[in-house]
Amino acid sequence: MVPRFFVSARLRSSLKGCFAGCFVFVGANIYFGSERFYEEYIMPTLRYIDAEKVHNLSIQMVKYGFVPRMKSIDEPILHSTVWNRQFKNPIGLAAGFDKNGEAIDGLGKFGFGFIEIGTITPQPQPGNEKPRVFRLTEDRAVINRYGFNNDGYEAVRARLIDYRQRNSANKDKNKTRNK
Ligand SMILES: *[C@@H]1O[C@H](CO)[C@@H](O)[C@H](O)[C@H]1NC(C)=O
Repeated sequence: MVPRFFVSARLRSSLKGCFAGCFVFVGANIYFGSERFYEEYIMPTLRYIDAEKVHNLSIQMVKYGFVPRMKSIDEPILHSTVWNRQFKNPIGLAAGFDKNGEAIDGLGKFGFGFIEIGTITPQPQPGNEKPRVFRLTEDRAVINRYGFNNDGYEAVRARLIDYRQRNSANKDKNKTRNK
């Protein structure tokens, strides 16, 4: 026999209200990117999911702009020049996170001085067998043996060209708007 649960209509409607409320609360926080919300709710929850899946998911989230809104600072004292290139600060994102250059726009919102994508190989390749990403929870670290899985030079090059075009188009728009 299937157990049945009798829930009064009143309780049911208040439960519905509660779910709707939670949904709106979670949605709004993800959308508006409260940094604390990511830290206290999103990150601890993600720990229960396979590390590589979370890596992929986080790339997708960043790609579509679901990023904690950081108070990124632009202090003249941090401006750096290396090899004739100007950086607004010396802290950058190392290769290995955005291996295929998919999330560059979103990563820009974190306030990094630079973003290194890749590693890219001339041809696409699948990398090592799974599992290949491991959490070191106690050390608050992750270790990976991806084996340079990536979409290959041509695909990533096309994405970079796209990124550059998008950004110069935006700059032009600002110029005409501000004159
Ligand atoms: C993560 O994404 C890559 C492609 O970008 C794919 O090859 C890999 O299988 C995905 N991993 C998981 C665990 O879904």
